Amino acid sequence: MAGNGPICVSVINMKGGVGKTTIAALLARHAAEKLNLKVLAVDLDPQANLSQALMGSSAYKQFIDNRAPSIVEVFEGYMPPTPSNPSPNPLDVGDVIQRILANLHVIPSRFDFSNHLVNSIGTNQRVLAQLIANNFQDRDLVVIDCAPTESIFTQAAYHASRYILVPVKPEFLATIGFPLLDRSLETFRNANPGQAIDVIGVVINDTSDYQAYSTPEKNRALAEIIEESEKDGWYLFANWLKYSRGFPKMMRGDFNSPGHAPHIFSRFAEEFFERLT
Ligand SMILES: Nc1ncnc2c1ncn2[C@@H]1O[C@H](COP(=O)(O)OP(=O)(O)OP(=O)(O)O)[C@@H](O)[C@H]1O
Ligand SMILES: [Mg+2]
Repeated sequence: MAGNGPICVSVINMKGGVGKTTIAALLARHAAEKLNLKVLAVDLDPQANLSQALMGSSAYKQFIDNRAPSIVEVFEGYMPPTPSNPSPNPLDVGDVIQRILANLHVIPSRFDFSNHLVNSIGTNQRVLAQLIANNFQDRDLVVIDCAPTESIFTQAAYHASRYILVPVKPEFLATIGFPLLDRSLETFRNANPGQAIDVIGVVINDTSDYQAYSTPEKNRALAEIIEESEKDGWYLFANWLKYSRGFPKMMRGDFNSPGHAPHIFSRFAEEFFERLT
């Protein structure tokens, strides 16, 4: 990919369960495996779903048991004293990343995002951007998975990001988060006029089984998504992600009988990377 350093993309929607983590995990894997890019995935959600999806649950459990550094230590800026090491220690960037493939690493998250942490990073929301600037210039792509609620971590993601990808689910109140995100980005741009940050697009992701849904409801939601995307000037990806039981499997790295999901995802990913470059 052209340019200096990685292109950083945050996956954001202030609505839960729309497929942010699924798409972040699959985009990171697609870029590494299909496009041979060097990829860093960053888990900014205390639910740590991206970490578990990419690492697998047993490796993730091991990581927690080992008290290995996570995004929490990245924001704190050091390793706290432990029974076996009585001193606060400098953070080694090599220890912060977990290897998934030779060209795919993840900075994992963990559940305890305490108020204290939120307060301490209040003074430096640029820690993640600085980490990428100083240590990950050899990467082609950084994919950041965000929590569904706006917080200081959303701001940290903005500082690091050139683009925001917005997954949306065709459901009642599908676009309730769009104006929030639009306003939040506008406020960020005004405060950081030196930074280019844009919504690369909205991707429709149907995480609900067709049968569980009434079609008129879905159609209303789709019309609303089209209208709201236009209103905000956001590109709507032509390739939707349809419901498939293969997605939860692939997200966990299980590629045994994933059905149509790989094909569905690849079409979106091709459109995504075409827009990115
Ligand atoms: N296209 C799809 N088809 C079927 N299931 C899907 C699809 N996309 C996502 N899912 C499933 O829907 C659930 C929610 O997806 P995911 O965790 O990616 O959403 P999220 O936006 O990251 O949620 P949160 O807001 O809690 O972080 C997961 O169980 C995931 O496996
Ligand atoms: Mg998620």
